[in-house]
Amino acid sequence: MTTSLGCTRYAILTKNYAFKFPRLDNRNYYWGWFCCILKSLIANIVEYNVWKHYKKECPFLCPIIFHLPFGLLNVMPRCTEILDTDFKLSIKIAHMALSAIPDVIEKNPHNFGFLNGQLVCFDYE
Ligand SMILES: Nc1ncnc2c1ncn2[C@@H]1O[C@H](COP(=O)(O)OP(=O)(O)OP(=O)(O)O)[C@@H](O)[C@H]1O
Ligand SMILES: [Mg+2]
Repeated sequence: MTTSLGCTRYAILTKNYAFKFPRLDNRNYYWGWFCCILKSLIANIVEYNVWKHYKKECPFLCPIIFHLPFGLLNVMPRCTEILDTDFKLSIKIAHMALSAIPDVIEKNPHNFGFLNGQLVCFDYE
């Protein structure tokens, strides 16, 4: 089991799953602690809504297999992360991004990983 810190979410990564919680330790000059927590909760809520809305038409979203209300938790299968964003993968991501990934998603290679050999986006808040 490992953990991974995003800007808004804190992920606990087990062998098969990623548990994404809002970060409670975030605070910055502009936002303050309370707004940072709200932002984290909203990130999980938005991600779940994107999943609900696009899951049928977009095969490149890592599924959310369980979630708690108010953005308290999103659970996904664990992907293998792309550590070395080589040229071919970037091209593939660019193609996917242009065609099938909803506009709301940031097309950054760091948001992508492999799930059962398929390239998927695991951060789409
Ligand atoms: N399904 C997954 N499989 C494997 N690792 C994951 C998965 N979901 C999240 N992670 C890991 O947890 C980290 C934080 O999750 P995520 O990127 O979704 O949070 P975030 O707060 O939106 O981060 P960012 O700052 O990149 O926007 C990711 O960078 C990644 O390392
Ligand atoms: Mg993100």
